[in-house]
Amino acid sequence: MLVTLSPDGDLMARFVLRSTESVPRIRKHLPALLAALPALRVVSANIHPEHKAVVEGETELLLTETETLRMTVNDVDLHLRPQSFFQTNTDVAAALYRQGRAWVDEAAPGSVWDLYCGVGGFALHVAGPGRDVVGVETAAEAVASARLTARDAGLDRTAFLAQDATAFALAQPPEARPELVVVNPPRRGIGETLSTWLEESGVRHVVYSSCNATSLARDLALMPTLRPREARVLDMFPHTGHYEVAVLLGRA
Ligand SMILES: C[S@@+](CC[C@H](N)C(=O)[O-])C[C@H]1O[C@@H](n2cnc3c(N)ncnc32)[C@H](O)[C@@H]1O
Repeated sequence: MLVTLSPDGDLMARFVLRSTESVPRIRKHLPALLAALPALRVVSANIHPEHKAVVEGETELLLTETETLRMTVNDVDLHLRPQSFFQTNTDVAAALYRQGRAWVDEAAPGSVWDLYCGVGGFALHVAGPGRDVVGVETAAEAVASARLTARDAGLDRTAFLAQDATAFALAQPPEARPELVVVNPPRRGIGETLSTWLEESGVRHVVYSSCNATSLARDLALMPTLRPREARVLDMFPHTGHYEVAVLLGRA
């Protein structure tokens, strides 16, 4: 089972199953489970037929009418659907988004991209009047979650696209380039193509949030004119050797 606890104490529970064989039984007993556990908001079955080193499969069957868990982080009411990434430690994620927002507000850009945006944590913390924000993320469920939050908050200058981050950046005409880019990639980092694009793009500021300092250092070496201005280590993965590093980069 994969269980997510929201800051308000609500739960999302996902049964990860080899096949759909037990789904009718889960459906049959679901009313009793919901009655016994009122905090349970979202229940789904994830079908994971293969034995391999990933925790979930591609097929998700929602079993409750409610499809999203509300994750209130700072003053942002994020929606979380099954199959969407969420930062491991919600309190530390809140601190990370506050730091991101502080750096972005200080740079005061009129336009921001949030690449690898997940359910839109950074994008939705920096969105506001007078600022165009675009979030890009490959997971369609996460993009759907981010769009719901933007719609609820009435953010009509904020858009989310289900696309590869590098392909998106490379496909934009120069006049569409933003003043600031946030990147928060998986452990492999943003890679050579996107690092080189950022270096040559003329984008004034980059906020790079990384869970792997080795790939972060490799990517930063490819962006020599984007100089680190401030950096912060966040204990996102307590009791492990892993940590999150957020860096504000500005043009030399
Ligand atoms: C470390 S998570 C960060 C998510 C988000 N920024 C947050 O604060 O929750 C990395 C995200 O990158 C997404 N991702 C992985 N490969 C991608 C790609 N090539 N292009 C865009 N997004 C990608 C993953 O689905 C995941 O949601």
